[in-house]
Amino acid sequence: MADLHIDREFLRRFEAGIDPRHPERSKIPARVLGEGRVCLVLAPKEPHAAPVVYKRLPSFRTPAEAERYEALHRRYVRALGERIGVRVMPSATAQVPGQTPGHTVLYIVQERVLEDSVGHNAIYRLSPTDINRLLLAVLQETAKVFDFNRAHQGDLELGFDGQISNWSLLGFDPANPTLPERIRLAYLDTSTPLMRRHRQEQLDAELFLRSLPRVFRPLVQRSTLNDLMARYYDFRRVALDLVAKFYKEGRPELIQSLADTANWFFLAERQETHFRPLTESEARARYRWDEFSWRAYLALRKLDRKVFGPRT
Ligand SMILES: Nc1ncnc2c1ncn2[C@@H]1O[C@H](COP(=O)(O)OP(=O)(O)OP(=O)(O)O)[C@@H](O)[C@H]1O
Ligand SMILES: [Mg+2]
Repeated sequence: MADLHIDREFLRRFEAGIDPRHPERSKIPARVLGEGRVCLVLAPKEPHAAPVVYKRLPSFRTPAEAERYEALHRRYVRALGERIGVRVMPSATAQVPGQTPGHTVLYIVQERVLEDSVGHNAIYRLSPTDINRLLLAVLQETAKVFDFNRAHQGDLELGFDGQISNWSLLGFDPANPTLPERIRLAYLDTSTPLMRRHRQEQLDAELFLRSLPRVFRPLVQRSTLNDLMARYYDFRRVALDLVAKFYKEGRPELIQSLADTANWFFLAERQETHFRPLTESEARARYRWDEFSWRAYLALRKLDRKVFGPRT
């Protein structure tokens, strides 16, 4: 992994004054660039802040637990970059004391990319033809991971989330939004370093569980979590997710052509003759389910905060 210098003193001050529910009201105010179930992606509004983003993961109970995650994150990013050949934005991790005594908060610090260059923003400026080319480029990058998994089956496999918001289009110029002949993509989303060694998942499912609202946790079974993770080891499901997310981006008119492009990729380019083609209705069903579960998650989290108080 390319090394990135972390200003630990800054990070300590940032965390000491953070308001996790309203990061813009923190002592060092920060803009929220992304909010997932596991992490919050923040850009501090300081004139001299380094050109990096801070991905905040508050779910660890002990420094040792966070350290295990850091080691796994390092291995994951290294495998992606050095063994598989996916370009990953340089990143590093650091722990800082949380606001609750004895509590540790982990940050993934990552070189910042131009917001307009992130896939889900870039597509607003691209023509439908270019969006299909972009989808193909994303599938070709993602295929590197699944080819590696196939070659190392039973030994080492990586889970991967190829959705469009996880990629930055390097060199993208919003003033001249066309795709170059050779599309260069960099991968951003390393906060869920899913990795199976000898078929054993290395990422503690507990971490996923803790990212869920507390009122909900007793209802979640281990098998549900395993299924949630298995989704990222299955190329077809990852491709379906990638296509279905275009509903979320408000581009339903593109779904059919994107599904066609993906099907062409699997059936013709990869010659996977047993591939079951993606359909528009399947993508719609996936999107509806994801929307439903995200809304339910947000509603439960709100309830959770009322019942148990704010989370760190
Ligand atoms: N290095 C970066 N530079 C600029 N923006 C970024 C960077 N990394 C992430 N972002 C923004 O934050 C969004 C979410 O980031 P990322 O995909 O890493 O986390 P996530 O999907 O929220 O993770 P999770 O769901 O695992 O919690 C991205 O879609 C992008 O808009
Ligand atoms: Mg993401």
